Amino acid sequence: MKEPVRVGVAGATGAVGLEMLSVLRERAFPVESVRAMASGRGDARTVPFGGQDLPVEELTSDALSRLDIVLFATGASVSREFVPLAVARGAVAIDNSRAFRMDDDVPLVVPEVNAEAVGGQTGIIANPNCSTIQMVLALKPLQDAVGIRRVVVSTYQSVSGTGTAAIDELTDQSRCVLAGEPTISRVYPHPIAFNCIPHIDTIDDDGNTREETKMVLETRKILDLPELPVTATCVRVPVFHSHALALCVELESGLSPEEARLVLGRSPGITVLDDASEAVYPTQLSSSGTDDTWIGRIRRDESVTNGLWMWVVADNLRKGAALNAVQIAELLLDGPGG
Ligand SMILES: NC(=O)c1ccc[n+]([C@@H]2O[C@H](COP(=O)([O-])OP(=O)(O)OC[C@H]3O[C@@H](n4cnc5c(N)ncnc54)[C@H](OP(=O)(O)O)[C@@H]3O)[C@@H](O)[C@H]2O)c1
Repeated sequence: MKEPVRVGVAGATGAVGLEMLSVLRERAFPVESVRAMASGRGDARTVPFGGQDLPVEELTSDALSRLDIVLFATGASVSREFVPLAVARGAVAIDNSRAFRMDDDVPLVVPEVNAEAVGGQTGIIANPNCSTIQMVLALKPLQDAVGIRRVVVSTYQSVSGTGTAAIDELTDQSRCVLAGEPTISRVYPHPIAFNCIPHIDTIDDDGNTREETKMVLETRKILDLPELPVTATCVRVPVFHSHALALCVELESGLSPEEARLVLGRSPGITVLDDASEAVYPTQLSSSGTDDTWIGRIRRDESVTNGLWMWVVADNLRKGAALNAVQIAELLLDGPGG
């Protein structure tokens, strides 16, 4: 696949799909052609790709023919139906949904962390959950340096993580609250404007949300640490873009905050921004629209042996979804099958 390739984007009208088209263009991904696909609902639509307006085709089995790589930015049920059809028609499918992430024969890839998992994959490659991506970027250099014993994380996740309908809901509710009008909640179980909701995705029988369980299981798979103790609380916050994590890591042996800054700062995809006494640390606003995972507030957790706290922020639509998927596609071009 070293020559320009035929790329499809399924879910091209959504928050992630639109970002994928931008990222393909920004990174000058070598495309012979790009096809945009979404549901057949509504009138004829176009989506921007560089200076062009790409027509949006209905996602069907036929629309998936004559493509080399299909980036899926669709929900799990749509991916479950159409990803295998794309593969059957000869494409490699890079899927952003949760549908295939935990399948044994599907690599779950963050290129800076486990690029080797792509191997010569010719079928499905899964993009991890957005919060998991930025967490494993922070954990991998620490695992390589001294080993990780336990991870405790709380997330502060923006509404764009739920897609375009949630961005509209926060916008509309904010206007209503400021105007003294009642709010209507369609996407979330409670108002999200001026509120935080400790409930992302469905609630499992054990009391965890599915988002929390994804962070546990996906982290273990990506780091290839199947027994790693990980526990998460995932919270939706009234922020449009970027997710933040308060991440507490118990290490196998001691690493000072200064040493951790050095280890993290020389790792690909990470920028350390950490001078708390001068109010220097990443925020969701400052990280929006950027490609890196930003880390600050690195300090000792004195409540455990060899514990470190840190604040980890990344743009969920970029590194948490579209950028990571395009980076995986770049690995396919460069790799043994390329
Ligand atoms: N948002 C994030 O930060 C993020 C991060 C990581 C992973 N993900 C995952 O990425 C996927 C997309 O998320 P999103 O936030 O972009 O959602 P979104 O904004 O709601 O977009 C969903 C897309 O799927 C399309 N779609 C819906 N039903 C379809 C159907 N029956 N056939 C074909 N296309 C259909 C929509 O097209 P229409 O316009 O025609 O409805 C739209 O293009 C989800 O699996 C999500 O879990 C999202």
